[in-house]
Amino acid sequence: MTLQTLLDIELPIIQAPMAGVQDSALTISVSNAGGLGSLPCAMLSKDALEKELTTLQTQTSKPYNLNFFCHTPPPPQPEQEAAWRKVLAPYYKEYGLDIQAIPAGPQRRPFSHETADIVEAFKPPVVSFHFGLPGKPLLARVKSWGSKVIASATTVEEALFLEAAGIDAIIAQGLEAGGHRGHFLSDDLSKQLGIFALLPQIVKMVKLPVIAAGGIVDAQSVQAAMALGAAGVQAGTAYLLCPESTTSTLHRAALKSDAACHTVLTNIYSGRAARGIVNRAISELGPINETAPVFPQASAAIAPMRTAAEKRGSNDFSPLWCGQNASACNDISAAELTRSLATTL
Ligand SMILES: Cc1cc2nc3c(=O)[nH]c(=O)nc-3n(C[C@H](O)[C@H](O)[C@H](O)COP(=O)(O)O)c2cc1C
Repeated sequence: MTLQTLLDIELPIIQAPMAGVQDSALTISVSNAGGLGSLPCAMLSKDALEKELTTLQTQTSKPYNLNFFCHTPPPPQPEQEAAWRKVLAPYYKEYGLDIQAIPAGPQRRPFSHETADIVEAFKPPVVSFHFGLPGKPLLARVKSWGSKVIASATTVEEALFLEAAGIDAIIAQGLEAGGHRGHFLSDDLSKQLGIFALLPQIVKMVKLPVIAAGGIVDAQSVQAAMALGAAGVQAGTAYLLCPESTTSTLHRAALKSDAACHTVLTNIYSGRAARGIVNRAISELGPINETAPVFPQASAAIAPMRTAAEKRGSNDFSPLWCGQNASACNDISAAELTRSLATTL
């Protein structure tokens, strides 16, 4: 079965869910253009989620994808937090901030029955998971709505795990990808592969349709992924400059500059490896800092510096998530981009 038939979409183009840089406006544009628009839900409050779901329901009759995280929240780690604050103290001093008064950072909650209680009424056509899958009863509950389930794999082992769990399609996330790595069976980053190595190996080992993610930015890269056996693609970075994205002015400027040629995996912004453009914080604190509390706890202490620096017009402490190929990023509409990605199919 083709991905288009499976997901009831016209084009095998999925707009990657991108927490922090989009809301339902991007989702709606892509879905209405014939691709699969995605809404990142991990950072939405209950009220915001309900509001976004209502907007989706009223503004598109086409399938869309709701994306959730599946991490296990760690218990409070006061010693790790204290050590992290010590590392950040000089920057707090520089910005005149009180390190004793750190507000709770941006929330990143894993998918739960509580969230499912809200989502259930909307019966989303597609649900995608990053960082693994929810427990069996919760996954069964999502499937009982008739929702198709897709999830990220960063290794062949993860793809086999996902297939055995009974999902509908696998997103092969190559090392080029912007944003957080979706690994969930091993934290060993040396096991992470580029998309041209990962995709054919997963395609060979699983029967499910495989969606290629990472470095897919134009019609040629879509064609290349399909030649390697992909049933479709999931593109994120390419959508960052679209007017429907909420990418900040500072982030947009970095994406358009030579700085976008240099991205790394860093854990300093959240506690988990994610790919972004190298900036001052990454150069001085990372890219990987062993003191950073585990995901998502590292974000609370670094967030106030981001706010303070951005007020001064600086991206020194902003997570500038970006894949390894931002060269094709253009400020064209998401509908136009979606159609252009599919021109060689
Ligand atoms: C700014 C940004 C935010 C992201 N946030 C999420 C997210 O919330 N959920 C998710 O599953 N993937 C997220 N990703 C990863 C994408 O799903 C996808 O793997 C990646 O964008 C593909 O690589 P590309 O950026 O080179 O196209 C994000 C990527 C970016 C660039």
